[in-house]
Amino acid sequence: MNFATIEIDPAVTRRNARIERRANAAIRGLDRLRAKLRIGGRKAPYDDLNYEFEGGPSDRLRKKHYDKSLRLLWKAEEHVEWSSFRDCTRQERDVLRLADSAIDDAERKQVDRMRSEEFRGFLDEQYTTEQKQAIVNVLSLIGHGEAYAWLVSTEVLNEVQSTGARAALTMQVLEEAKHFVVLRELIQAFACPIPRMSAWEYVLLERTFKSDGLEKFFGMNVVVEGFALSLFGMMAGLPGLEVLRQFHLDESRHTALPANYFSEFPMTWWQSNSPRAQLRRLSLILPALPILAQVESDLAVLGIDSLEFGGSMSRKILVLSERVGFKALLPKPAMTWLLNRLLNDYCQSTRPGHTWTDFLAAETTTGGEELAVEREVFGAGSVAA
Ligand SMILES: [Fe+2]
Ligand SMILES: [Fe+2]
Repeated sequence: MNFATIEIDPAVTRRNARIERRANAAIRGLDRLRAKLRIGGRKAPYDDLNYEFEGGPSDRLRKKHYDKSLRLLWKAEEHVEWSSFRDCTRQERDVLRLADSAIDDAERKQVDRMRSEEFRGFLDEQYTTEQKQAIVNVLSLIGHGEAYAWLVSTEVLNEVQSTGARAALTMQVLEEAKHFVVLRELIQAFACPIPRMSAWEYVLLERTFKSDGLEKFFGMNVVVEGFALSLFGMMAGLPGLEVLRQFHLDESRHTALPANYFSEFPMTWWQSNSPRAQLRRLSLILPALPILAQVESDLAVLGIDSLEFGGSMSRKILVLSERVGFKALLPKPAMTWLLNRLLNDYCQSTRPGHTWTDFLAAETTTGGEELAVEREVFGAGSVAA
């Protein structure tokens, strides 16, 4: 390449560089002093000297969460054809068309591209009005949760260290955004009134959002995502709700994120054990219990025992919590006993003839694929075979 170079006096260049070096030393020195005195300082946790975020590259975290999420990134246009989403590339659309032309008429009937109106008709064929309302009531619970997951993961993105962890959280933000908008459209397709957040859900989600720093991982990636994973695992087999399988896969990665993060950037003893943090964690788990009473009648319409769902979900949350190192006043066996006690006490007062049931041994996730995903996340012993 031939460039018509321009003459610059080298002395001017050297003087400019000298001025910059002095200004840099003064500005950064002042910011370091401010940071030491806790009166401000540099806000960005970015290490431009090493071209890295503070905390280093964390390639393992990046590969496990960012790269994997990109590989598994799913398109709403492909999975919910009837929706308003147009997020496939032209090549992806061509592949879909090719796949379409390769199937015979009988198969086509099964996978026929549905339009919004057709999908509503399909739901009307499959479900009674009462069943549709029950599904909307249950799904909207997690629909509101997705809004908070989007908000919380956006904040956690600025709390984590390292380039890899930021990349991981960036994918979570992207996936939560997709969960919120796709689930919203799916719920609206049922054409039933969508309930507001209940008081219990409000307390759980607001307290999670207001948690300090990485403590948000407990409320969100352990409690709320444990709830979401269990719910999607239970509902994905219902006609018309097959897209929830994709949500289930995404949430399984999100629940694994805190353990992977803290294995590289361990919590201090105090962060794990401080009585205030433990009490706060316990106070986050407990509002989840009245939610089970709230959706009891809706789940019953769908043939699901709300307390079995609660037991199955609680067992998974306790496994995640213990794995990450989030203590919550009581050790896991005592928490298992206490939660079982509370669920049985509720049944004792509301279900005539109730006998003691080990709700925390229940498994409400259905579908071979979903169970296999959960076995990978929770280990063989924590998901019923
Ligand atoms: Fe989500
Ligand atoms: Fe999530």
